[in-house]
Amino acid sequence: MNIVLFGAPGAGKGTQSTLLVERLGYHQISTGDLFRHAIKNKTELGRQAQGFMDRGELVPDSIVIGMVDEVLENLKDHHFILDGFPRTRAQAEALGKILQSRGLRLEKAIFLEVPKEELLQRLTGRRVCQSCGAVYHIQSKPTRKDGICDLCGGAVIQRNDDKEDVIATRLRTYEENTFPLRGYYKEMGNYAEVDGSRPTEAVFESLKSLLKA
Ligand code: AP5
Repeated sequence: MNIVLFGAPGAGKGTQSTLLVERLGYHQISTGDLFRHAIKNKTELGRQAQGFMDRGELVPDSIVIGMVDEVLENLKDHHFILDGFPRTRAQAEALGKILQSRGLRLEKAIFLEVPKEELLQRLTGRRVCQSCGAVYHIQSKPTRKDGICDLCGGAVIQRNDDKEDVIATRLRTYEENTFPLRGYYKEMGNYAEVDGSRPTEAVFESLKSLLKA
């Protein structure tokens, strides 16, 4: 089953995608991770994306759509999760065309619903490993040793866009562009939603049941 996982910044898309990869063998396509990887490797794509990301704005549709198109080209035989794509109506429509042209289907677009106060707590407390990308939280998922990744020993830091002023822009951008996609997928008939405010394992169980249905 191919799915889109969407929701506000901090809703838990990355956390749940990681579990779906580890436990159910999905392939994750995270546009945020692809951009961060490009920035780290100082590629042209990274150079184009960096300013938008640092300000908490969306990278232009033309850049994102081209990138996803390329990634999907190599994924014919895998079930995939699109994590953080689409975020605009133009991206959703482009995705529909890309999938159709490849004979692929999007079975579900799942919205992770989390109240704003909880999002703020999750984003301001999030820490990530600079080397392997593992995600932590200073309260709900701390590292065993302060500032050191449990998995690879890399340095665990705060993302540039998890500073409070940038978070405010990201949330506003989400409300204007991505929240309305609920209506789009309801019309398409493949919309589903999950209460993402519960503990990680409970959210995962709900997702698993949806994917079996
Ligand atoms: P991206 O990296 O996709 O950021 P985002 O959508 O803002 O999502 P986040 O990564 O912040 O949150 P998440 O939902 O994955 O939450 P997580 O699981 O980490 O994009 C970054 C930027 O790239 C964008 O701002 C934009 O500039 C650009 N970009 C990306 N895609 C684009 C697109 N399609 N178009 C244009 N531009 C694009 O969890 C957050 C924290 O909460 C963690 O600390 C975690 O441990 C904790 N947590 C998770 N689940 C729970 C739970 N159930 N209970 C308690 N804590 C939890």
